[in-house]
Amino acid sequence: MNYEPIRKPDISKIAVKPNLLDYKKFREKFRWEDVRRELEGFEDGGLNIAHEIVDRHIKTPLKNKTALFWEGKDGENEKYTFYDLYKFTNRFANVLKGLGVRKGDRVFTFMDRIPELYICLIGALKAGAVIGPLFSAFGPDAVKDRLKDSRAKVLVTIPRLVKTVHEILGELPDLEIIIIVNKRKSPYDLQNMEVRYEELMDRASEEFEIVKTRDEDYAIMHYTSGTTGKPKGAAHVHQAVLGHYATAKYVLDLHPDDIYWCTADPGWVTGTSYGIFGPWSNGISQVVYEGGFGASHWYSVIEKYKVTVWYTAPTAIRMLMKAGENVVHKHNLKSLRYMCSVGEPLNPEAVIWSLRVLGLPFHDNWWQTETGCIQIANYPAQDIRPGSMGRPFLGVTATILDENCDKELLPGQEGNLALKSGWPSMFRTYWNKEELYKSRFKGNWYITGDRARKDEDGYFWFVGRADDVINTTGHLVGPFEVESALIEHPAVAEAGVIGIPDALAGEIIKAFVSLKDGYTQSEELRIEIKNFARKKLAALACPKEIEFLPSLPKTRSGKIMRRLLKARELGLPEGDTSTLED
Ligand code: PRX
Repeated sequence: MNYEPIRKPDISKIAVKPNLLDYKKFREKFRWEDVRRELEGFEDGGLNIAHEIVDRHIKTPLKNKTALFWEGKDGENEKYTFYDLYKFTNRFANVLKGLGVRKGDRVFTFMDRIPELYICLIGALKAGAVIGPLFSAFGPDAVKDRLKDSRAKVLVTIPRLVKTVHEILGELPDLEIIIIVNKRKSPYDLQNMEVRYEELMDRASEEFEIVKTRDEDYAIMHYTSGTTGKPKGAAHVHQAVLGHYATAKYVLDLHPDDIYWCTADPGWVTGTSYGIFGPWSNGISQVVYEGGFGASHWYSVIEKYKVTVWYTAPTAIRMLMKAGENVVHKHNLKSLRYMCSVGEPLNPEAVIWSLRVLGLPFHDNWWQTETGCIQIANYPAQDIRPGSMGRPFLGVTATILDENCDKELLPGQEGNLALKSGWPSMFRTYWNKEELYKSRFKGNWYITGDRARKDEDGYFWFVGRADDVINTTGHLVGPFEVESALIEHPAVAEAGVIGIPDALAGEIIKAFVSLKDGYTQSEELRIEIKNFARKKLAALACPKEIEFLPSLPKTRSGKIMRRLLKARELGLPEGDTSTLED
């Protein structure tokens, strides 16, 4: 179904003029070198993300502006100015230096969204470390895979999560130090390798000479799922901050008086690019809410902090729609002036709903862990075509390539979404997997792994993934990772994992499992296998459904044919089955 475009606002009537007024004109004159000039960098060249998002503001009137409004899950509040962040992050950088952290060492975090998470990540960047934030809902296998592959030297965590780390310590020979942040002062006795954050911070100086990183020095890595193998660490460099800064300014349309809220956790790329770097490089005040989703809680956060710009995700929006309009009317949400969404297809109904109920449409945008910043977007002074991801960002060239990724296709034709490589925030490698990284490019094009089409006016429309990766609640889950966890259960012989469409979560994970001889399928066994997977993986990666099959369809070389499992599940044509085992 085609939806009427949502017309751009009448600029003469809105109080806050969009930063990007004229898409075409801005595109023509946009140069990344000019963006660089809006940032500071170091006198002798190079730059450090931490300097751009915190330190440079200290010499300006932004010094005493609130950078962070923190709302704890139990209703606690804290406020940090840019100057507070400056001092705390300097202290943490000193702590790391004192512990022997050197430029390029990997410092990972595994903690809830508390202010100390932000302090540790920025402090580690100051110390020249490569940071790796892990989502606090990860199970032991997910944490182990990431710490092991990155050879992390330091992990910062909290008492609630340290048990998970203890389970895997034996398999992490490179991990030297665990820093325990005990914000809520729960009783905890330090174990081997562990040090107390609070004690070290108390002793640390507020002065620190930031490590003068170069543009191309690694700064941050986020693990992302592919079809095969374990998650891969997409590594980004300090120069990436140009992308975060420019997109936060022109796509999220951040203005000096905004109170901004990004609902994503820094364990995912949205939570760092737009929950740390984008807003703070623009000197914007932002809210961090530690708690999880809840319609009423979320609306209360907007009301309490008078949030003006809100960046969230389609599953959350669909959950808000489900919660209904009554709860909306119990809150004063008048502060909101602009809203964006990312991570999965934003259904047109959600855009229409938000316009009707919240008085503003959500602006969809598209990007990936690998791209580091927004690549395709709807903009504040442009018409929205509900269901479209919008048009390429300034300085970004996007196209649709044919099946072999050789030829650009015409408007209306569906194919592989590709981006011309070379923007600052683009990933520079998959950690330890340079070949795989190279395989993502064809000539000058970065092949995104998504299928899409564009229309005559250059709006891009998402079609689906080109691979088996599952997008559940906006999070990518590689089937291989889930299958690997399932087959570790003593009863499981083989496992095949697919995503099936779901009205709320986008896709849910379904596993097909065949059992080893001597085991019989039963409801108890199904629950036991589910719980087993939940313990190993993050809850979101755990299969919602498990179906027992006598055996799974495989190719002659023994590869489980997920495509066939999916076709059978959804009643679709089975396609080419010539490689099927029997
Ligand atoms: O398939 C696309 C989907 O999410 C993938 C990127 O996921 P990830 O690397 O976890 O990055 C999340 C931060 C953006 C994409 O390849 N995706 C992302 N945004 C959209 C989307 N699918 C449809 N519409 C979007 N706006």
